[in-house]
Amino acid sequence: MPRFGVLGSGKGSNFRALAEAWRTGTLGCEPVIVLSDNESAGILDLARGFEIPAHFVPPGPFRTKMSPEAETEIVRLLREAKVNFVVLAGFMRVIKEPLLMAFPGRILNIHPSLLPAFRGLEAWRQAVEAGVPEAGCTVHLVDAGVDTGKILGQASVPVLPGDTAETLHARIQVEEHELYPRMVREFAEELRA
Ligand code: GRF
Repeated sequence: MPRFGVLGSGKGSNFRALAEAWRTGTLGCEPVIVLSDNESAGILDLARGFEIPAHFVPPGPFRTKMSPEAETEIVRLLREAKVNFVVLAGFMRVIKEPLLMAFPGRILNIHPSLLPAFRGLEAWRQAVEAGVPEAGCTVHLVDAGVDTGKILGQASVPVLPGDTAETLHARIQVEEHELYPRMVREFAEELRA
């Protein structure tokens, strides 16, 4: 069964959806390590609850990316865990060469917009402010750009009258938790084919 590593910075609700699918035997692949740039991230506690090894990797001095040393350490840990691919689940830093070159075409991300619309931070807020009638989420491969890689799948939700950034984000997250396990399962199936 394909093995994957997870990188996340926050509460980890997408990781939870993946781990629950794995536990119920419907994911077709196995999360074997969870790494975070944030020592107090909920995703680390969640992983430990699932008895999956979880580590904080100090990110270094930059805010939007990891230091090359930190990223090299992440690659080392992922290789040591013998992962076949990598899943970003709310990881808030841009991925650079050490990781991109270690897993070319094998890093997935979920972004809370219908890409190519609203790349970057707080895409749900961007959608509310732009007044669009429809928002959603996208699973895509990670390349050197920000939210620019090949799109694997999307799910849409309506933007309702009176929506705030928070209510829209909550509605998008419900779809994320259904879309991401489905896309990860399909990706793993293709790896096995
Ligand atoms: C999600 O909205 C995801 O689309 C974005 O970051 C958020 C992570 O949430 N990349 P969680 O940590 O999985 O709850």
